[in-house]
Amino acid sequence: MINLLDIITSFTGVTTILLTLVLLLVIGYVISMQERSGIPPGPSYWPIVGNMFDMRGKRVGKRHKYYAELQEKYGDIFRIYFGNQLLVVLNDFESIEEAFVKQKDLFSSRPADKLWGIKQAVKDGKGVIWASGQEWKDARRMTVRALRDLGVGKTTLEDRIKEEANIVLDYITAREGKPFVVHDILMKATTNVISTVVFGKRYDYTDPDFLRIIQVIDMSFKSDMSFFTPVHRFPMLRFIPFLASKLLKVRNAFIKVKTFIVKHIEEHKKAFDQNDIKDFIDIHLDTCGKEGDSSVLSENNAKRVILDLFVAGSDTTATTLDWALLFMILHLDVQKKCQEEIASVVGDSRMIGWSDKSKLPYNEATLLEVQRIASIVPMAIPHTTEKDAVVKGFLIPQGSLVYANLYACHLDSRYWKEPLQFKPERFLDDTGTVSKQAAATLIPFSTGPRICAGEPLARMEIFLFFTNLLQRFSFSTSGREKPSTDGICGVSISTPEYAVVATPR
Ligand code: HEM
Repeated sequence: MINLLDIITSFTGVTTILLTLVLLLVIGYVISMQERSGIPPGPSYWPIVGNMFDMRGKRVGKRHKYYAELQEKYGDIFRIYFGNQLLVVLNDFESIEEAFVKQKDLFSSRPADKLWGIKQAVKDGKGVIWASGQEWKDARRMTVRALRDLGVGKTTLEDRIKEEANIVLDYITAREGKPFVVHDILMKATTNVISTVVFGKRYDYTDPDFLRIIQVIDMSFKSDMSFFTPVHRFPMLRFIPFLASKLLKVRNAFIKVKTFIVKHIEEHKKAFDQNDIKDFIDIHLDTCGKEGDSSVLSENNAKRVILDLFVAGSDTTATTLDWALLFMILHLDVQKKCQEEIASVVGDSRMIGWSDKSKLPYNEATLLEVQRIASIVPMAIPHTTEKDAVVKGFLIPQGSLVYANLYACHLDSRYWKEPLQFKPERFLDDTGTVSKQAAATLIPFSTGPRICAGEPLARMEIFLFFTNLLQRFSFSTSGREKPSTDGICGVSISTPEYAVVATPR
């Protein structure tokens, strides 16, 4: 028979265990909420999940607006928690300069191993976007050299961009003045420019392999899925059926594109001629043959760099052009001035070339203003700190995720008068020339050693597409209602969908 003493003893045992558990949980909670002194201020957060739930509901796709609220409340440098990972956002030009330029050795690494999805994606090679240290320096040197040698400023690449612009012009002509959404065709055109750079050939816009590349770029860029999905911090979530099927779809699309890239590398190997270097793959094969060249990439890493160029170079450029056309239909006076400048400098008997740029300052100022007001890549790509660092007196501990809020920088009234107004003139001096001083705090490509590796190519593409479109067509809205400029924030900020009418000039 169980006596009373045994019951009391076992009850006390269970109670002790329960009390110990509760105590451990409380201690765990208190420890997890402890912050090192000196780190930037920020909102309150939950244990384990941090501020992940702050981005629900109407904040989905509005990360830039959420950060603006936090900047208002906590100042130019604030912190949030992505799970239990500290994430610091630098919101003004000075802080970004102090970190990315003045302390470049501490701030130039990428947090590939802190984001589960990225870690999986770059298992075979980190390419240029996700590499750090010497591996990144070598990949970056090779990429920048290749983009330069393939000729920004040389006729071949300029001709290829113009050829692609002509295809877009034909497409627009075929719309016969009916309203259409322009992003799709711009995306195909800019993806084909990258295809020319890496594979040495363009694709028909209906080619299934080509369309798959675009699908992969879309998956990488559109939506908060890319850097902010909880699965990056809680990989167990990948077993939830809905997420599992989504992740599988992304994985399969990436595998197919990689297979496609391998096919191209193999074909290039067979046809390789050292005296006739035509594209990125040829440059890669050429460096492989040169002993002691430190920028030589392994084949897996070359594959990844190629993927990086598509991912980083297509959507960004297409989205910039998309915003440019949206602002042109909202500001017909600016559009008219751009066209008048083109008409007086180039006329309409030939296409506009790269060498015309210095003679078209109003067009250039308009594109700078588009890049300022739209901030296409609003938070750049995450950096991480190699060691503890201090910015504007705040401690940024080793291993923090660090975001440069380029969007906030470009709308900062301390640098830009009436920042919400679209005014290309702000970039022109009294003589009508583009003012370097006015553009000094414009950083759409970020700043420091991690600055966009494709900046020269991007600038050339944006200029050639934009001016050649305006030379041939006038753009207007399809209805009476003005399209909104309330962008949707993923890795890039895309325009809300709008239809445009193009009238031949
Ligand atoms: C208007 C178009 C573009 C914009 C606004 C843009 C913007 C950016 C930004 C903000 C970054 C992140 C920098 C950082 O982390 O601090 C970046 C990185 C990068 N971009 Fe671009 N980009 C554009 C076009 C291109 C093009 C055309 C290419 C190449 C074909 C390219 C290749 C890259 C690469 C490889 C990186 C990674 C650099 C590194 O990690 O070292 N981008 N870009």
